[in-house]
Amino acid sequence: MASVGEAVAAASARIGRTDAVALATHAWGVTRAWLVSHDREALAAPLAQRYDALVAQRQQGSPVAYLTGLREFYGRSFGVSAAVLIPRPETELIVEAALARLPEAGRLLDLGTGSGAIAVTLACERPTAAVIATDVSAAALAVAKDNARRHSASVDFRLGTWFEPVKSARFDIIVSNPPYVAALDPHLAQGDLRFEPTLALSDGSADGLASLKAIISGAGGHLQPGGWLLVEHGHDQGERCARLLEAAGFIDLMAMADLAGLPRVAGGRLPRPG
Ligand SMILES: C[S@@+](CC[C@H](N)C(=O)[O-])C[C@H]1O[C@@H](n2cnc3c(N)ncnc32)[C@H](O)[C@@H]1O
Repeated sequence: MASVGEAVAAASARIGRTDAVALATHAWGVTRAWLVSHDREALAAPLAQRYDALVAQRQQGSPVAYLTGLREFYGRSFGVSAAVLIPRPETELIVEAALARLPEAGRLLDLGTGSGAIAVTLACERPTAAVIATDVSAAALAVAKDNARRHSASVDFRLGTWFEPVKSARFDIIVSNPPYVAALDPHLAQGDLRFEPTLALSDGSADGLASLKAIISGAGGHLQPGGWLLVEHGHDQGERCARLLEAAGFIDLMAMADLAGLPRVAGGRLPRPG
């Protein structure tokens, strides 16, 4: 019978130390500190089997977040399933950008909410805001609602395509991290992306811009004068988004780069009349 430490070491050789530790804490319901303090303890057979099954799935490519059912976003733990995109660290940029612009008791719309990472985070960080979040996937919305409950966040979730579920309502801020991977991008067949919903990654357009175009062209009709649209985009789509925002009449264009220095968020403000 292997010890705790031996089991984790053997798994580390197969899937790397970080993932081996993450799956061990999940499989055994323990903390990292427990792993260290129980390093030499014999591992019961059922626990070893449960761990081995997870390690095997990881070795075959399953994302760790889908195996553990959890992913950290903006300091909170979000439930995830194969129905939703795994929240990415770069998406925290759009949260920062929205928080810097959201008035007290402002109205915010999150388009394509997925796990609810953006909407739930903003509702937690700004409890006075009225947050509506839409998604075309009912399965994704079920995950998002669970996450809102998990964090006692007040978010009005609506099923439908982009602006359709909010009819003619207007907002102070619209945020979106839409699908933007080009249809034939080879990354879709690599890494975690192979396991994530296609609907969350790509809208099937050759340049990956169809959803961004729909959101940017539609946002003006759903923003208050002076309201902001903030969108996440692919690392090579920043210039194109800026031109689309300009063409749609947005002013005060902004851009944010991720930790690798790649442009990731584009936005603009709707002018006030007069
Ligand atoms: C890139 S994921 C973003 C998920 C989440 N907001 C995040 O940042 O982690 C895009 C989301 O848009 C949703 N989506 C795709 N097409 C849509 C449409 N036409 N209308 C509304 N939502 C859509 C997908 O179901 C998916 O949940």
